[in-house]
Amino acid sequence: MNIQNLMVTGGCGFIGSNFIRYLLGRADFTGRIINVDTLTYAGNPDNLKGIENDYPDRYLFERADICDLGRMEEIFSRHGIDAVCHFAAESHVDRSIKDPGAFIYTNIVGTFNLLEAARAHAEGFVLFHHISTDEVYGSLGPEGLFTETTPYSPNSPYSAAKASSDHLVRAYGATYGLPITVSNCSNNYGNYQFPEKLIPLIVLNAKEGEKLPVYGDGRNVRDWLYVEDHCDAIWTIMRSGRRGETYNIGGNMEMENITIVEMICDILDEIEGLSTGAPRRDLITFVKDRPGHDRRYAIDFTKLREELGWMPSESFESGIRKTISWYLENSEWVRRVKNNEYHSWISKQYGE
Ligand code: NAD
Ligand code: DAU
Repeated sequence: MNIQNLMVTGGCGFIGSNFIRYLLGRADFTGRIINVDTLTYAGNPDNLKGIENDYPDRYLFERADICDLGRMEEIFSRHGIDAVCHFAAESHVDRSIKDPGAFIYTNIVGTFNLLEAARAHAEGFVLFHHISTDEVYGSLGPEGLFTETTPYSPNSPYSAAKASSDHLVRAYGATYGLPITVSNCSNNYGNYQFPEKLIPLIVLNAKEGEKLPVYGDGRNVRDWLYVEDHCDAIWTIMRSGRRGETYNIGGNMEMENITIVEMICDILDEIEGLSTGAPRRDLITFVKDRPGHDRRYAIDFTKLREELGWMPSESFESGIRKTISWYLENSEWVRRVKNNEYHSWISKQYGE
């Protein structure tokens, strides 16, 4: 596979920025990256600070909205785009419950626009890789795992919009012969995650001695994957995955939310000491549950392991320590993110 001009959408977000750094550091990618991001509240150019200087000939930023088809076609033509890795999305479930409209536009219409632009530039086009989520499969009971053949059953406006975009990508492969791959991944954590998501929210609140909101009974289960392992899985699929196929990505790391919150409290107590004299676990506050809250996610990634040889390499114990340290050491990033947009409307919305 020889990609010359790779469009990465949503490259200023959490996973997209990690992916751009990962890929530019690899010897088996020699092309250029064109990062297309409209910079919503979740898009932060600080996430890629220094990258333009480090890779002046290989990295370009285009501030553009994927909902604008004209702009997408223009960027495809001007940069000779021959592959897309599509991260851009509204990504936060709570926001989709409060205000679903943006999720429909960006996640569905935006994906449709990119597919149309790729279809119009089909000659020499190498790959459209679509980043999706395990949430499209709905909720598991106490047993079982999501496989690539689990029927779609999304429960939130976020996951329904992602499910719709997955179907569109697959359909463009089947109907127009567009070379596509799709990956459905479990919960990511790591550096540069916007602090509305569980792990960075809890780390920063616990550091500041603020309440730690846990939805419902705290026993919902997610399957956690360190973000760099996700980046590695994406590149593995882009390089060697069969065209037209979907691959599940997971961490083999099922954990109840309350266990994670307690773990973060204990690690912070150990690193920072008891600043208020009491253990941070005392800050845990059970709040009203998220409507339609999926009980359990767990991924079977046998296909990715057996076909392409991918395995996660970071353990949760080491990954969470690295992540906590990163948030402690990057207080300027945290301050800027919080001052720009971040506010606690989500936890306030559900009350205590
Ligand atoms: P994020 O919210 O951190 O970043 C999203 C990025 O997309 C931001 O930079 C934002 O500015 C950009 N964006 C949003 N709307 C746009 C638009 N209309 N045009 C151009 N850019 C736009 O998201 P993330 O957590 O990094 O997730 C990235 C992708 O991975 C999403 O597609 C998400 O569904 C998927 N995913 C996320 C996880 C996770 O745990 N975070 C797990 C599985 C899959
Ligand atoms: O599974 C993949 C998905 O993981 C991605 O597709 C989404 O983009 C990503 O946001 C994430 O979705 P979740 O809803 O699982 O992540 P979140 O961090 O919002 O919540 C994780 C769990 O923690 C979930 O069960 C809800 C709970 N939670 C969350 C927050 C923000 C709390 O108990 N308290 C909180 O304050």
